[in-house]
Amino acid sequence: MAAIFDGFKYQDHVLCSDGVSLEEVAEKVGTPCYVYVSDIISKTYQELDRSLESIPHIICYAVKANPNISVIRALGQLGAGADIVSGGELFRALEAEIPSDKIVFSGVGKTREEIDSAIRRKILCFNVESEQELLMIDLAAKSFKRVADVCLRINPDVDPKTHPYIATGLKKSKFGIPYKKALDLIRAALRLKNVNLIGLGCHIGSQITETKPFTDSLNRMLKLYDQCAKLKCEFSYIDMGGGLGISYHHEHPPTVETYTQGFIKELKDRKLTLILEPGRSLVGNAGVLLTRVLYGKRGETSNFIIVDAGMNDLIRPALYSAYHTILPARYKKYKKIKASVVGPCCESGDILTKERRIQNFQPGDLLSVMSCGAYGSSMSSHYNSRVKIAEVMIHHGKFHIIRERETYEDLISKERVPSFLKKAAAVPA
Ligand code: LLP
Repeated sequence: MAAIFDGFKYQDHVLCSDGVSLEEVAEKVGTPCYVYVSDIISKTYQELDRSLESIPHIICYAVKANPNISVIRALGQLGAGADIVSGGELFRALEAEIPSDKIVFSGVGKTREEIDSAIRRKILCFNVESEQELLMIDLAAKSFKRVADVCLRINPDVDPKTHPYIATGLKKSKFGIPYKKALDLIRAALRLKNVNLIGLGCHIGSQITETKPFTDSLNRMLKLYDQCAKLKCEFSYIDMGGGLGISYHHEHPPTVETYTQGFIKELKDRKLTLILEPGRSLVGNAGVLLTRVLYGKRGETSNFIIVDAGMNDLIRPALYSAYHTILPARYKKYKKIKASVVGPCCESGDILTKERRIQNFQPGDLLSVMSCGAYGSSMSSHYNSRVKIAEVMIHHGKFHIIRERETYEDLISKERVPSFLKKAAAVPA
């Protein structure tokens, strides 16, 4: 039977990846669980790295896409750096042995504590998003008697033509320094003693499936670089963010080659190191969510297939109406029906798919929700006091648990009962 998603195929009717059957994983680990395939991650990373070999570059994996330390480590061993947005992500990146001089710190709301720990670790740079943040970094660096390297994250006001919740480079967005104010802030940064301006960056959004938004934003950025040359400041880096889309359904994102050619063409004659911060494109199609059908139910107007994974495990369909392909882990001839695949959470929005023509899956069937390697586990929650689920990595014909399923004890382990609640309160006379 033919491959459906790169790296996944039916062998003797059983959905497998790298020689491991997803049925076997589910039997041993239980459901729901996330499964990632290290070979797919490596191939995807290496393809991107190779396609940029003609220009100096650093690929800083956007940890937010999938922060499991084994995933970060797998990429780090191939040479990736990390793009982080919190102290927690810095901690994870360092635990995964990413060299600190390959870590860039993005995000609009870095706290003083987070800034301090990143300065202590001597990261590659802060991607600064406002004047006040710039001043805060200068102050923090001064207290360490250091000079912190920074890039200014500019908002280029380019429409990425993606879901509005994940567009980040439009004028109205909270991200980045307004394009029109960029030169003023560059001048201000050059006057500060404890920051060293090493470059500019931007991030226009995620799940981008056209080339033009990338070339438009690069052109806007290079225009600024040329204006900066007149200020006699020399930059070493340009950070063009993440954002390359993947195919969830019928999307046709640019190939890696087409995507990188746009950068190479413009940067090959400039003395700049390109930083990219890909998340989804590296890990999105390397992961699936395994879930088992609990019940089928005919409502008065709709059919429901109720599964054991909820919106707390995968929130993308509820939050962005995101499409995820659902495949049976064992291929059978199914009758098709129109149904919603829903989870156990007490929310009408708890859906994996709404009213889709789909196989009439039966209780006990194991399903594989495809393209869940990015923003699946990382956006999961404990809603309805559901435990965080296990994560598994397939590597060369074997699978390894890389995060254990939580227990109920884990759920309450950080809660404290104050003494006044420990005894039954005395009933007043
Ligand atoms: N760098 C920065 C500063 C970002 O804000 C992001 C994503 C990335 C890199 C990685 O972008 P990617 O290569 O993954 O597109 N939760 C949403 C996606 C939100 C992305 C936010 N920023 C989803 O599930 O679609």
